Amino acid sequence: MCGIIGVTGEADALPVILGALHQLEYRGYDSAGVALVVDGEIWRARAADGTHSVADLAVLTQDAPTGHAAAIGHTRWATHGHPTPENAHPHLDCTGRLALIHNGIIENHAALRADLLADGHIMTSATDTEVMAHLIERHLARGLTLTEATRAALHAVRGAFSIAVVHADEPDTIVAARRSTPLVLGLEDGAAFLASDIPALLSHTRHLYALADDEVAVLTPGNIAVTTLDGDPVTPQQLTVDWDLEAAQKDGYDDFMSKEMHEQPAAVANTLLDRRGPSGELVLDEMRLGPEELRGIDKVFIVACGSSYHSALVAKYAIEQWVKLPTEVDIASEFRYRDPVLTERTLCVGVSQSGETLDTSEAMREASRLGAKVLVVSNVVDSSMARAADGVLYTRAGPEIGVASTKCHLAQIVALQILGLTLAQIHGTLTPAEITAVLDAMDALPGLLTVALSRAADVDEVASKLTDARDFFFLGRHVGFPMALEGALKLKELAYLRAEGYAAGELKHGPIALIEPGTIVVGIATRNRLSEKLLSNIAEVHSRGATVVLVADDGDDEVGALGDHVLWVPPTDPLLSPVVGVIPLQQLAYRLATLHGHDVDRPRNLAKTVTVE
Ligand code: G6P
Repeated sequence: MCGIIGVTGEADALPVILGALHQLEYRGYDSAGVALVVDGEIWRARAADGTHSVADLAVLTQDAPTGHAAAIGHTRWATHGHPTPENAHPHLDCTGRLALIHNGIIENHAALRADLLADGHIMTSATDTEVMAHLIERHLARGLTLTEATRAALHAVRGAFSIAVVHADEPDTIVAARRSTPLVLGLEDGAAFLASDIPALLSHTRHLYALADDEVAVLTPGNIAVTTLDGDPVTPQQLTVDWDLEAAQKDGYDDFMSKEMHEQPAAVANTLLDRRGPSGELVLDEMRLGPEELRGIDKVFIVACGSSYHSALVAKYAIEQWVKLPTEVDIASEFRYRDPVLTERTLCVGVSQSGETLDTSEAMREASRLGAKVLVVSNVVDSSMARAADGVLYTRAGPEIGVASTKCHLAQIVALQILGLTLAQIHGTLTPAEITAVLDAMDALPGLLTVALSRAADVDEVASKLTDARDFFFLGRHVGFPMALEGALKLKELAYLRAEGYAAGELKHGPIALIEPGTIVVGIATRNRLSEKLLSNIAEVHSRGATVVLVADDGDDEVGALGDHVLWVPPTDPLLSPVVGVIPLQQLAYRLATLHGHDVDRPRNLAKTVTVE
């Protein structure tokens, strides 16, 4: 998500900050800013809106005063609030003497904001971040030090954060803290550093330390003191880093795809954050379409391309089951040229990681023209599609660099299911208890994903036995069908192998003619209402000599016995099972691609964002 850098003990801190922000650019961002403590004041510059790059920030800071005490810098990937200069970090308190940068999401920001406004604080941005600057200000006014005030403020904050705070009254000090998002500390020759990512620090120091959850670090020139949120001293864990810069950008993984696959638990957790209101009900303030507009909806269309289309297909099962609304899913490039029947009571949902895919954005334009309400699910705040839509629901997966979508696909499924539950709440088709049960199951997904990801070696072993195979069929039923499509797409995109995804019931209507000894069939056998029927289809292909690889729920030995190889995943609610079950499919495609010597981050002939027809 956002990039963070801080330094104290460098009289010429600005080039250090700009250099580190440049090292963080690969992660993607939509605005950048810096705050310097100089001569007992905070000096701040922020770049956004068209001229938002670190190079633009360098121009803006050309005349910055010199002789710096502490300094902090930030690249923002917008979540709450548009990517404008006002929303760019650092944020100041009312006195203008405190500056703060943040990575993460403050879940209870709305309540905190209301409380601070009632107390007379003046907010100048739409961000969740700014409330923290004012919360700390409130505690400083009670006579606490910057460190004490930061600790006190963080006790009131729910959500995920890494922050760095400077104050003109304590010019050499940076106070930093984290919960659930990364923060690295560094020491060197009378200076101290902090950053969200190791690459930002590598050219300054290799004496690195990791801050753990709910720890607070106080950086002064050449010194770092770490405590718990309650003030008990702790020794930070030292990091041994022998990576070069490129490896560091990949967090030590071999490629961005691996890194991003491992970010999937966080991508799902972040997409779920901040969605439940005080009584457990779903509140999607950011969506812009209110309950009244959604109550009148009598039909849903979901339109997308590629992996986003597969996310949409999963959502169809959920929305039809939960909301009982007719839900059509279409490929964007087809939708825009046929005559889709839409009215002002149709909700047309465009799903796009980038928010820029031409086919999907043109399809949304057509839906608007036909009078439908248009909602966009996007990972990029203020993307073209997000700006043009009536409403927008953001996935919060962070920038995705690997061309073949992984973490964004999972975050889309979760975001669309939250939309489905919201519609069910508004249409009264699920009880509050039923909605809470699904949300609770969703909250468990990041943990299940971590377990599924930890089994990569099992998938590698299966992949090593399939290196000579050229033809793959992926079969699934119910939500297993879109999973089968996604598994086949991943194998095509990454390993350049012929792979077909099929609804298993269609097998007997043609494709079974192609099954012969040597054909690989991957069956999605995680439990859903049609999984029994899938097993009959699997038995049919097995008896014709296919080698069968099954994705199955832990403990489902009956299913396990039917496969030549079984890839086990932790079970969950059937409608949520694509979130977990797609992991071994990604891993299989990844491993077969690397065994064949292909570049998984940049597959041939493919582009990350397709802005042409
Ligand atoms: C490209 C990418 C796919 C992606 C598709 C849709 O083809 O290679 O991974 O699923 O575009 O992209 P979008 O940004 O609209 O989700």
